[in-house]
Amino acid sequence: MDEEILQFLREHSSAFLSGEEISRQLKVTRTAIWKRMKVLREMGYEIEASTKRGYRLIRSPDLLSPSEVKPILRTKWMGKTIHHFQTIDSTNYKAYQLALIGAEEGEVVIAESQKKGRGRLGRHWFSPSFLNLYLSVILRPKIPPQQASIITLMAAVATAEAIEKFSGLKPSIKWPNDILLRSRKVAGLLNEIQSEMDQIHFVILGIGVNLNMDERMFPKEIRSTATSLKKEMGQTISRKAFLQSLLGELEEWYGIFLKEGGAAILKAWRDRAQIEGKRVKVTSFGETVAGVAVDVDSDGALILRTQDGDEKRIVAGDMEYKK
Ligand code: BTN
Repeated sequence: MDEEILQFLREHSSAFLSGEEISRQLKVTRTAIWKRMKVLREMGYEIEASTKRGYRLIRSPDLLSPSEVKPILRTKWMGKTIHHFQTIDSTNYKAYQLALIGAEEGEVVIAESQKKGRGRLGRHWFSPSFLNLYLSVILRPKIPPQQASIITLMAAVATAEAIEKFSGLKPSIKWPNDILLRSRKVAGLLNEIQSEMDQIHFVILGIGVNLNMDERMFPKEIRSTATSLKKEMGQTISRKAFLQSLLGELEEWYGIFLKEGGAAILKAWRDRAQIEGKRVKVTSFGETVAGVAVDVDSDGALILRTQDGDEKRIVAGDMEYKK
């Protein structure tokens, strides 16, 4: 009902709308409307109320609800359905559940905060309220599961592009899919798939972007390695505007993948990552290997030349650059 009230207030933003009119349109009591107005104010909506004239919307908070986001989206299909939550365990988990019961390609799950935000390799993703972006996008590409990693690379490229276009800064990608600004992590991706042997059912692209966190807000363990767009740009970021940009880039890069195939994605990923020839250390399933990065193959695996000259193919893990 909140969405409907807001929609109604927005359509008449220059004038007052009487409680009676709203209750008639939405077929609920005036007391119910009054109660919802109270809740909306607590959410940050500035709503003027006059006993004689009714209600008027003065200002909206930077919320990521469908009624705030949809009017500014420039996508053709992505984000046309947005499932928005004040708080949730994990947007990835929710998107997975929705996809299992038939949610369509392009549906998006967004939360203002996550109680169990999930990072790669079983880690926790710090997800405080109203500061950052936590979203999961459902895709249903008609490809075999072997090609799923290219979708991950595609999402990393799209996120980096969105950050660059939005900020003018130049993010890089660190294998497998961390997005860095000045060598600090500004965004991370956790992608999950559901598939049978020869056909993917769906992919969940889980993206977390640190937008308005100040340095002191990061947990101590990541304070020296993480950053936010606000910190890098020196100004508060409109989460709505950033989301608009991110969904636009995701739709575009997914389109490039479907039209041109994986090679175009791999090229863009390589340009961003500049990994070739870098001295790195990779920890994978409890084992640490040092060497020189050779490339990333079309499955997203890292090819590493070890000190004794062997080439190793690493499918998952954590990579660090060595000085
Ligand atoms: C990483 O470890 O770098 C991946 C972090 C991914 C975080 C995002 S936030 C939205 C989505 N929901 C989750 O629980 N995780 C991803």
